[in-house]
Amino acid sequence: MKQQAPKGTQDLLPEVTLNWQYVERTFEDLCKLYGYEEIRIPTFEHSEVFQRGVGETTDVVQKEMYTFEDKGGRSLTLRPEGTAGVVRAYVENGMGSKTSPQRLFYVITAFRYENVQKGRYREFHQMGVEAFGAKGPHIDAEVLAMLDHYFEELGLKDYALHINSIGCPNCRAQYREALLAYLRPKKDQLCQDCQNRMEENPLRVLDCKEKSCQDVTKDAPLILDYLDEECKDHFDTLKGLLDDMGISYKVDPRIVRGLDYYTKTVFEFVSENVGTQGTICGGGRYDGLVEALGGPSTPGIGFAMGEERLLMELEAQGLVKPHSLETTLYIANLNDAAHTEAQALAQALRRRGISVQYDLMDRSLRAQMKYAGKNNMDYILVLGEDELARGKVMLRSLVDRDKEEVEVGLHDIDTLAEILAED
Ligand code: HAM
Repeated sequence: MKQQAPKGTQDLLPEVTLNWQYVERTFEDLCKLYGYEEIRIPTFEHSEVFQRGVGETTDVVQKEMYTFEDKGGRSLTLRPEGTAGVVRAYVENGMGSKTSPQRLFYVITAFRYENVQKGRYREFHQMGVEAFGAKGPHIDAEVLAMLDHYFEELGLKDYALHINSIGCPNCRAQYREALLAYLRPKKDQLCQDCQNRMEENPLRVLDCKEKSCQDVTKDAPLILDYLDEECKDHFDTLKGLLDDMGISYKVDPRIVRGLDYYTKTVFEFVSENVGTQGTICGGGRYDGLVEALGGPSTPGIGFAMGEERLLMELEAQGLVKPHSLETTLYIANLNDAAHTEAQALAQALRRRGISVQYDLMDRSLRAQMKYAGKNNMDYILVLGEDELARGKVMLRSLVDRDKEEVEVGLHDIDTLAEILAED
């Protein structure tokens, strides 16, 4: 029987992987400019890492985790996001004793059992950063500037940065009471999940995707009105820094984010095109998470960008074109001797960084030409009896048909490589 990929997963075929490489390479180059180093973490963790890190009352932990018991009876979970695993690694490897701030980036797959729709998958990809050790708002501003810089590099338009502050446990205690006082009389209008978790974590009701809950919370009190002096200062300074850098933003007091670890600054980059799945990137500060996962009290901030959503957005704006970085050469070979010669020539040129293919199917010249065209090769040279006898080949551009052919010595690898590399 023909097998199908599981619901919510996708095969990324060669037509699109070039686009993925492009956004990832651009991201990695930018990370280096801002001092971020790569970390690679396991695909699965002990379930407790997410229960304690992401939070027991979140949708992610309550409904969306792929959790299983391994043969040793341990409860393991496929990572639904990167932050909790990175923090676990940071604590376990004593990374806090190295320089501060410690800046880490990652490119990962993540898994959530979600209702599948456009821009919402069960296996998806995130590019993210986490910065540990800096407490003040300057790093918040730097992280947002980095994202702004990234979108500028990609040429992205029509997106907006939404920011909010959800304060610290101190401000949240007061806010919690005000929110509960507002929600209690309306409890029976909430979905069953929200009714169950309301007393324990009323903030989650604000983040619920059910329409009935969204209707109830429309006029709920706003956390921004309950910030203590320190959290208010932090947020005001951040806004000033963003203004100084010319980064536009909108304060959206309704952003609470779907994960429990956030404190103070939270933010989302929202596309104006993708509709409800329009959040391309989300993040914020999590000053209590390192401690919650067994480390010393350490502030942290980061973000994760959904690659599927980013690429959808780039495509909608006509900004990703499959492109190859190297010049490509096709060697058409017309007999056995030419085949052997083509192989040697291809190896010599590949060692100099030129991407080369030659016929391996004993095809006719016509069929070989067709193959070179279909595979978007930049140059072609034909190796037949005549070329072998003369020890010379004609190099022809397939991109610019008006470009004159160049005659080059068959064994003059330097000249061939030079012409091809120039392109
Ligand atoms: P998040 O908002 O849950 O945050 O996810 C970040 C981004 O991942 C979203 O904005 C979205 O683009 C993408 N994403 C999430 N779920 C899906 C899905 N089912 N299908 C496709 N894309 C999806 C986090 O994960 C935090 N760890 C971000 C962070 C890092 N905060 C601090 N540091």
